[in-house]
Amino acid sequence: MLLFREKVPADWLPKVQANLPAVLVDHAHLERKAATTALNLEKYRDLYDRVGELNAIAIEELQHFQLLLGLLKKRGIPFGQPYPSPWITGLMRSIRNGQRHQAIDHLICCAFIEGRSCEKFQFLAEALKPTDAELAQFYGSLVESEGNHYATYLLMARAVDEAETTRRMDFYLDLDAKLIREPNPLPMLH
Ligand SMILES: [Fe+2]
Ligand SMILES: [Fe+2]
Repeated sequence: MLLFREKVPADWLPKVQANLPAVLVDHAHLERKAATTALNLEKYRDLYDRVGELNAIAIEELQHFQLLLGLLKKRGIPFGQPYPSPWITGLMRSIRNGQRHQAIDHLICCAFIEGRSCEKFQFLAEALKPTDAELAQFYGSLVESEGNHYATYLLMARAVDEAETTRRMDFYLDLDAKLIREPNPLPMLH
């Protein structure tokens, strides 16, 4: 299902495992931003008839955010400041202006964030099993939902303009491969 051209760097998993409290705070913000992003997509004319579906995604992301807040509370981790992800910023910076082009690029960026989350949650679900069964189970439980968001956003882009989406996917797959190789010492999901 996921067609990324570059693997998640080998140093990502050890970095995340060594900084789980900070990563959980980052993840909480990521879910919060995913909810607002789903609502932001509703501004595009080409997506007016998808508002109900986008609301449903926003509600799901908000539920994920709540789950993360619950985990933070249970573990005594204070909800803290968000840090911008260079990978997400890099993707978003390449969104073109203009209703239709902007909608397609924005949807592809969102799909990539969902897709990379889905992939990384699978790694975490597996890697955390021996040391943190609760968190392993939690990450496993999010995989399907984020995978569905990935597919939904790509299908929405294709429904707006199939050929343009294919062209832009090619561009964004290269960009993702380039950006994901850039070192990021901060303990974040992306
Ligand atoms: Fe989510
Ligand atoms: Fe999602």
